[in-house]
Formats: sequence, structure tokens, C-alpha cells
Amino acid sequence: MSNLTTARVLTVDHWTDRLFSFTATREPGLRFRSGQFVMLGLQVEGKPLLRAYSIASAAYEDQLEFLSIKVPDGPLTSRLQHLAPGDEILLGRKPTGTLLPDLLLPGKRLYLFATGTGLAPFLSLVKDPELYERFEQVVLVHGVRHIAELAYRQFLTEELPRHELLGELVQAQLRYIPTVTREPFQTNGRITDLIANGKLAELAGAPALHAAEDRVMLCGSPAMLTDLRPILEAAGFNEGSHNEPGEFVVERAFAER
Ligand code: A2P
Repeated sequence: MSNLTTARVLTVDHWTDRLFSFTATREPGLRFRSGQFVMLGLQVEGKPLLRAYSIASAAYEDQLEFLSIKVPDGPLTSRLQHLAPGDEILLGRKPTGTLLPDLLLPGKRLYLFATGTGLAPFLSLVKDPELYERFEQVVLVHGVRHIAELAYRQFLTEELPRHELLGELVQAQLRYIPTVTREPFQTNGRITDLIANGKLAELAGAPALHAAEDRVMLCGSPAMLTDLRPILEAAGFNEGSHNEPGEFVVERAFAER
């Protein structure tokens, strides 16, 4: 059996000229856990061209959802950005990934740090009731350059807190902190700076990051991952893996090209 399957595009939403999201059909056999990624792509000149894409929908949802950048000369995203409802995409059959609560030791508070399209796996996780059973408080921080890139902001601030089944959990336990670096906004600055200057703790209503009770998931720009890792390690956080859970986990799986 081929390790690839197909799905049909259902909807496409363009957030900015650099960012779009789309939904696609999910065949019942495609199993995944909230927070995982899958190989996704198109047939290009008779061959599959695939990249790792985090799944933005939760494990229980009937449709698949993805968030992608558009790079004008990117081999895949230059083509993907023209997707329309009814188009066929290729999908790997084995979603995988490290942004799973199982890879973290039990803790009180979970920080989800994302830049850009790194938000996608966290959208999946914050829609999953399991997360709220595991952690008393979940803090989702999304860092972008421009306000318009705060994809799903309305969903996170308005729809999710009113969600029929999740609304109460979200209102009580989820804090969403959007931050913008290149134009004035309610919160300005890189995630690393918000940690260093105490702004994050203030906005989260929590003490400074602490390995004893906090857990962290990271997804986004390689530069952010490079800078945040030593900050976490210096504070006593160890990276969790499938073999041994820890205090933080990292995912690099999002399309850059
Ligand atoms: P900045 O505007 O200061 O570069 P990008 O669109 O390049 O992926 O960036 C998404 C967000 O990630 C931007 O707000 C950007 O801030 C921020 N960012 C870039 N590098 C880092 C880093 N090393 N640490 C934290 N945030 C970063």
C-alpha cells in the first residue's frame, strides 16, 4: 500500500499575502493525535512534492485544517497558495510529532510558544479537552510581525470561549497572548523579550517561568527555537522525548518554503 493518500480541499482562507489556511476532507482511516504533523503536498511533474505540515484541527474533528505561508518562489507553497475547493492534495498516512502532552511530565501550567504558522499545532491542542484535564492553566503565546498575521485571533478570542462543549474550560483555563513585533499593538515584542522583561508573567497572571511547575511546547521560527532553548535549559527545563518525558518539547515541522 502506498504511504500516501489523497484529500479534497473544502475551503481556503487567505489571511494576508504571506499567509493562508485551508480545510480538507479526512478519510476515516487517517488517525492522528492533536498536535501532530503530516506530510502534505501536490503532484508536481508527475512526482509527489511534500512538506511537513502541522494539523490545525483537533484529533476528533471530521475535517483537516492547515495553516501555511506563501513564498512566491517556494517549490510547494507557490503552488499550494492557488488551491481551490475541490482540488486534490496528497497526504502521508502516518501523522507524527513531538508536541504531545505525553512527552511532558505532569505540571501545573502549559505554555505554548508559537511564531507565525507555528500556531497550527497549538490550535489543534487548545481544541482538545484532554489538554485542560492535564493542565490547570494553558497559556498560548503567538508572535508575529504584523497584526494581520495574527491568524485565528477572532476564533481564539470570540468563538472558542463560546464553544458549546469547550467554552467553559477555555474561559477558565486558556489565556491567549498575541504579540506583534513590527507595528504598535496591545503587546509588542518577541516572545524571548516578553519572558526576559517579565511581561509574559504579567499577562499570564503567573510567576516567572519555573521548571518545577511549568511545561513548554515550542513551534515556529528556527531563530526563535535557537534562542529559547538555552533560556529554558538555563532555567532547568529538560527536553522531553518519546523515551523520556521532560519539561519542554519542540517541533520544527512547518513549511518554510
Ligand atoms: P521580529 O519581527 O523581531 O523578527 P517570521 O515572520 O520571520 O517567521 O517571524 C515571526 C515572529 O517571530 C516575528 O514577530 C519575529 O520578530 C519573531 N522572531 C524572529 N526571530 C526570533 C527569535 N530569535 N526569538 C523570538 N522571536 C523571534
